[in-house]
Amino acid sequence: MKIGRITISDRASAGIYADRSGPAIEKALREVFGDAAIFQSAIVPDEVELIAAALKFFTDESKCDLVITTGGTGISTRDVTPEATRAVLEKELPGFGEIMRMQSFAKVRTAILSRAVAGTRGRTLIVNLPGKPTAVRECLEILAPAIREGVAHLRGEDPH
Ligand code: MTE
Repeated sequence: MKIGRITISDRASAGIYADRSGPAIEKALREVFGDAAIFQSAIVPDEVELIAAALKFFTDESKCDLVITTGGTGISTRDVTPEATRAVLEKELPGFGEIMRMQSFAKVRTAILSRAVAGTRGRTLIVNLPGKPTAVRECLEILAPAIREGVAHLRGEDPH
């Protein structure tokens, strides 16, 4: 079970601040998948080409079962994660973003500002999450059952 995590942030990639969201993804997914999970990580700036290249590397070369991104889903001029993700997706899964925003909105009104998308490329499930570590934890809690089920489907396993 290979999981790629990509932190998308100009400042984290330049070393201006430490990446806390990537490790938060790993901690939350370790609880979901246990010791079976093997993680690969990357930190990239908010550039469409670089984000798309990292997504393609983790899907096509590393053959990750799951790739989670954090950051760049908002509306500031540098936020381009959804555009880069859509460029590599083969099948979009709108429900991930819809439920993430709807359930997060009940807690945090700014959740509506995230444009996070999800979908599949080959046998890989790709999911965008917002950038804050708290948002990572909140959203993964909401999405964990669907992520587990989606990965099992793509691996050709019967989750039941
Ligand atoms: N979703 C949850 N669950 N919790 C949060 O704190 N923060 C929001 C939103 N989604 C948040 C959340 C905020 S403040 C922003 S600006 C958007 O995600 C986009 O964040 P990003 O640009 O870091 O991806």
